[in-house]
Amino acid sequence: MKLKSAFLGFNAAQLIVITSALPTDIRQNIPRGTTYADDMFNTAIEWNDGFWDDEAGYLIAAASNPGRYDTRHSGWYATQLLARNGPGDVARAVRIFDNVISGQYLDTSWQWYGDYQQSPSEPLPGTHEYVNGGPYSSWDPNIRDFVGCAWLVALNDHSHLLPKATVTKIEKSLHTAAKGDLYRVGGVDGDNLYPCYSNPWLMRTVLQNWVGTRLGDKNLTQASEKFAQEFYDLWSQHRTLSEFNSPTYTGVAMWALSLWSQYASEDSLLKKYAPEVLTATWNEVSQLYNANLKNLAGPWDRTYGYNMKKYTSLIGAVIWGAVGRENAPIPQKTSGMYHGDDFAFYPLFALGMPEMLKYLSEEAKSKLIKFPGDHFFTTQAYSPPFDTYARNITTWMSENITIGAETVAEQVVGGPAESTSAFSPAVIQWAIDDYQIGCVSHWVTESSIHAVASNNSLYISYPNATSTDGPISFNFFFSGLDIRHNFNVTGLEALPNLSLEVKTNAADNYTIVYDTDQTVNDFIFYNITYTMPEVFTGEPYVSLRVI
Ligand SMILES: *[C@@H]1O[C@H](CO)[C@@H](O)[C@H](O)[C@H]1NC(C)=O
Ligand SMILES: *[C@@H]1O[C@H](CO)[C@@H](O)[C@H](O)[C@H]1NC(C)=O
Ligand SMILES: *[C@@H]1O[C@H](CO)[C@@H](O)[C@H](O)[C@H]1NC(C)=O
Ligand SMILES: *[C@@H]1O[C@H](CO)[C@@H](O)[C@H](O)[C@H]1NC(C)=O
Ligand SMILES: *[C@@H]1O[C@H](CO)[C@@H](O)[C@H](O)[C@H]1NC(C)=O
Ligand SMILES: *[C@@H]1O[C@H](CO)[C@@H](O)[C@H](O)[C@H]1NC(C)=O
Ligand SMILES: *[C@@H]1O[C@H](CO)[C@@H](O)[C@H](O)[C@H]1NC(C)=O
Ligand SMILES: *[C@@H]1O[C@H](CO)[C@@H](O)[C@H](O)[C@H]1NC(C)=O
Ligand SMILES: *[C@@H]1O[C@H](CO)[C@@H](O)[C@H](O)[C@H]1NC(C)=O
Repeated sequence: MKLKSAFLGFNAAQLIVITSALPTDIRQNIPRGTTYADDMFNTAIEWNDGFWDDEAGYLIAAASNPGRYDTRHSGWYATQLLARNGPGDVARAVRIFDNVISGQYLDTSWQWYGDYQQSPSEPLPGTHEYVNGGPYSSWDPNIRDFVGCAWLVALNDHSHLLPKATVTKIEKSLHTAAKGDLYRVGGVDGDNLYPCYSNPWLMRTVLQNWVGTRLGDKNLTQASEKFAQEFYDLWSQHRTLSEFNSPTYTGVAMWALSLWSQYASEDSLLKKYAPEVLTATWNEVSQLYNANLKNLAGPWDRTYGYNMKKYTSLIGAVIWGAVGRENAPIPQKTSGMYHGDDFAFYPLFALGMPEMLKYLSEEAKSKLIKFPGDHFFTTQAYSPPFDTYARNITTWMSENITIGAETVAEQVVGGPAESTSAFSPAVIQWAIDDYQIGCVSHWVTESSIHAVASNNSLYISYPNATSTDGPISFNFFFSGLDIRHNFNVTGLEALPNLSLEVKTNAADNYTIVYDTDQTVNDFIFYNITYTMPEVFTGEPYVSLRVI
């Protein structure tokens, strides 16, 4: 993208005039959208270029399985290459389409029918070699959606660059992916794709719509209308995504919604609902974002880290596209980012940015640049069938400290994704100094948690403490003191530049452990644990107050 604009030497305003006068096929190869999106596209695709293995014809993964060939990243990259269309890019993309499609599962009797393998090295799902043969281990059911949505963009916008045979091959592959996606029914065969699983649900919906429309398969378009309505019925109860305030997945949801808005068929429910949901999501993000700390305040239904300036999130991409890299909650160094793999996704966010930005108000945008002042944010979010009732969310935002919490009662520990490392229902973040961000996150051990944030305080209790693997405890993880400045962390009441007062009916002899062999989401942390005595009255609670 950069190559071409530099070559043509136009500024953005001239470009708009000139591109509209060009024939469509040429216009598509000229940078669209804002300069921020172009900057993001170029930076991230060049980063991807560095992971390309030309012998194998795949991208290698960066962070989670470094060195292993990665189907999903390669699938994303193919679309990006077509959008850039530099020397050799199209040929490289064609190789990826061939390689990834050769790893698609074609037997209609398989639960993973239509999915793409995670990596070309792995044995067939369901075979005896696997220690764990279930979904998200031997196959990742969401890859159909991640690759499928990237490829619908490729076909819709760039198929004129591809040989006819390749176009037909991709269409056939996407048809298979969409039909296989319909095998997914939450609660059946261990599948977890309910409407509350916002990010893949939103992607599947547009995959069904686009493929169904392109190939004239009414089964798929009808499914997409049903999925869109089911999503909207749930969303409109509280006007929040069920995967609430997730630094990574709110980004995926916004990207998918931009596809609803841009690529879905004219008369579809997707086209109808996307603007309203995107607008509301931007507004929510802008209220929960603290531009001083460059972080989304808690609570996080699903997180992959504790400081967005240290790890790659996808809200980071959304904000980069809106207000530029300098203002974005991203690691400023692209080497050594925690959770760095998702950087491979950034160029697709850049391509979706013009559509996404249509729904960002000036007011919301200004909050992404300048913190608007102390405020509360309260709402609810609901994830049936996991939640017994809607979760109550309370967040207090101030200049240098944010406190976010949610009350939850579920049958499982760790939120609907059942992930204790991701589900963070009570979080305090603050500025340790001008660049370090401290985070105290409550580590979940219970399925029922009452957690409320208010002005300068956080209250957590267990209304239905049922923990059976040991005593009832409150575990807090502190991370963020990356440069010690000769400070000793000795407990919640001895944190750098955050003065807390602790009240609890737990025993006051808490433990504190810093284990160099253990990280959570790549972050190293102090584990500060308060344990309930064997005999106590009332609900177990811990109350923290900033003093
Ligand atoms: C649509 O679904 C019906 C019922 O499942 C099936 O019989 C039919 O073959 C499907 N049509 C296409 C085009 O796949
Ligand atoms: C929090 O309390 C302080 C001190 O009472 C007050 O100045 C401030 O306005 C309060 N903030 C909010 C968001 O209510
Ligand atoms: C959530 O808040 C609503 C409205 O204030 C209240 O009726 C409900 O009991 C609360 N639920 C929980 C789980 O605290
Ligand atoms: C927030 O931090 C900045 C920079 O360290 C400091 O100038 C400011 O006084 C702090 N604000 C509050 C309310 O503590
Ligand atoms: C606390 O903040 C001050 C002012 O920003 C800074 O000089 C000091 O290093 C910080 N303390 C720690 C332990 O980081
Ligand atoms: C309390 O926990 C038990 C055991 O998990 C569960 O059956 C019950 O529904 C829970 N009650 C509430 C109010 O969450
Ligand atoms: C940190 O602890 C060490 C060992 O107890 C002690 O020597 C040092 O003075 C402490 N530093 C501070 C700033 O309290
Ligand atoms: C805390 O004190 C109690 C009572 O003295 C004792 O039983 C328990 O083992 C202590 N726990 C820790 C972690 O030291
Ligand atoms: C945190 O420390 C407590 C007490 O030592 C321990 O039981 C718990 O497993 C630790 N949590 C993690 C995630 O390491």
